[in-house]
Amino acid sequence: MKKEYSFQFGRFPTRVIIQHELPPLEQIRENLTALGYRFSGYLLVCDEHTEVFARRIAGDAVCVLKSGEEEKTWPSIERILKLAKDRGLGRDGLFIGVGGGVVSDLSAFAASIYMRGARLCVVSTTLLGMADAAVGGKTGFDLFGIKNFAGTFFPARLVYMPLESLNTLPEYEWKSGMAEIIKTAVLDREEKPESPAYTGSFFSACLKLREGSPPGVFPNRLYALNPEGLFECITRSVEFKGRIVEADPEETGGKRALLNLGHTFAHALEASLGLGSVSHGEAVAWGLARSCELGFSIGITSEKQIGEIKEVLALYGYEIRTPHPLLKDIPSFMQALGGDKKKSSGQLSFIVPCETGAVIAKLGAGLPPDYLHIVEKIIENL
Ligand code: GLY
Repeated sequence: MKKEYSFQFGRFPTRVIIQHELPPLEQIRENLTALGYRFSGYLLVCDEHTEVFARRIAGDAVCVLKSGEEEKTWPSIERILKLAKDRGLGRDGLFIGVGGGVVSDLSAFAASIYMRGARLCVVSTTLLGMADAAVGGKTGFDLFGIKNFAGTFFPARLVYMPLESLNTLPEYEWKSGMAEIIKTAVLDREEKPESPAYTGSFFSACLKLREGSPPGVFPNRLYALNPEGLFECITRSVEFKGRIVEADPEETGGKRALLNLGHTFAHALEASLGLGSVSHGEAVAWGLARSCELGFSIGITSEKQIGEIKEVLALYGYEIRTPHPLLKDIPSFMQALGGDKKKSSGQLSFIVPCETGAVIAKLGAGLPPDYLHIVEKIIENL
């Protein structure tokens, strides 16, 4: 099982390689050379969980960060930049980020500002990273208590998704990544002809992936259970996201924003419960259910579509009840939603599912003036 994609994200070409094994440094060098890039030196960036992978790629030059969202800060960036400088990297030096979303965002940001932009390769080792973070060039770190407050668009020249790294993925990481895959399946309405490689619709591929597992229980170790099914879900996510980002690389044209389906509710849940109380993907799954309900109240999402989306989420065992059992303070949730509004120049927008995938609902373009009452009712389940 191996698949390669070439994307053009604005002025940056990106090659994505999905394969079983971790790429040794020589393979990275060969692929970059084939794409027309040479590098003089390199620095691997990883965290405590992915150090083992980084050292298999190359034994030396490894910057090991502590694991977790709390490390997604400026001091981590400074550390990466300092080590790169100490190793004498020039502008043609290569940063290789080995890990999930935190490591890839940090190493990509450091590469984007190092001497005004160095070379970047991302080796994505988590399902969430493969389904979302590693493709599309968003980089950044948290600042002033706000997630991804500072960042750049800087797509990697080369992205590897070595599926063998999933074999050691903890349970919560599986669940987190799968929610982004289901979200993408809601957006991608393309029916592929059924074949050994494709199940038909992306949505049915998600359902098929967990076949044989009891309903309501998340099937871990999906790569061992159903390698072909997982491969299909990852490649379809990469393909869909790649096409969207090619069309709207810096989220200015309204297309890339659709990838945030479920995220307005998810961010508010994460913020009001405290970062880390639920995984990002679990918050996205919960937010996706709320987006369906909002879409229904404003006449965009059909009852049939809500049923299908909620069914797949429930089969995978996501918490989709409202109010969320951990959410005790609804006013703080509503306040956190207001925080998201500030990020988008005063207008809160929601992405809601529809027959063709999803649409953006903004005040005056889908949302009625009293939409906050509707949202509050949905959250309180009145
Ligand atoms: N995570 C959504 C995006 O990359 O645009």
